[in-house]
Amino acid sequence: MGQELNNIERMYDTVAKEYSETFSREHEKKPKDREILHRFSQEIGDRKPVWDFGCGPGQTAKYLKNLGIEISGLDLSEKIIEQARIIHPEIHFRKGNILGLEFENDSIAGVVAFYAIVHFTEEQVGIAFREVFRVLQPGGIFLLTYHIGEDAIHLDEFLGKRIDINFMFFTTDFIFSCLKDSGFEKIEIIEKEPYAGVEYESRRAYVFAIKPVMQKSP
Ligand SMILES: C[S@@+](CC[C@H](N)C(=O)[O-])C[C@H]1O[C@@H](n2cnc3c(N)ncnc32)[C@H](O)[C@@H]1O
Repeated sequence: MGQELNNIERMYDTVAKEYSETFSREHEKKPKDREILHRFSQEIGDRKPVWDFGCGPGQTAKYLKNLGIEISGLDLSEKIIEQARIIHPEIHFRKGNILGLEFENDSIAGVVAFYAIVHFTEEQVGIAFREVFRVLQPGGIFLLTYHIGEDAIHLDEFLGKRIDINFMFFTTDFIFSCLKDSGFEKIEIIEKEPYAGVEYESRRAYVFAIKPVMQKSP
């Protein structure tokens, strides 16, 4: 059930305004997300830079910015970035691809990626994790969220627009071993039930993973 990046980009271009209207204040209704973001901000401290990959309309970047984190956002969809820039003009957003990051090795202190892997195949998840690992500084923190499960669902309609896309679910065993294979350590996965009436009805997970300070020799 692989899908082309230009299909993902087109779909977020199509729903950019509606996605932004629906999700840009979602953390107000999600205490666990706020708790996790506070923990991230405490652990990252004053290290920088921090990037929100697959940032959408920038709600997570904004939350961390309000906690004093120097953060920028990156997304595949130019239209969703336009929305992010309108709502949060004080934050730097730019277009980019998690599967081929235009960043130097060891250059970023922290990466957050909230539901950014929801359209990826397992193979693409592996590529994304290796790319995040590559660009993180030793000791850098990766905070990821995903939907737990074994299936994918196909949608022809989303937020009132006609689309054609798959949403992917991943097992925690898969995510854990994929992170480990990519080189991460101190992998902690926190699972939770969805907030009824607020979130799509899938179990979710928040992941903290660290790039080791001492790299294993090949
Ligand atoms: C489900 S949305 C999540 C957006 C936001 N993080 C949130 O929590 O609402 C997935 C986002 O990832 C972006 N995305 C998907 N594939 C990407 C890629 N290869 N590189 C960068 N962004 C990507 C999409 O454009 C979309 O904005």
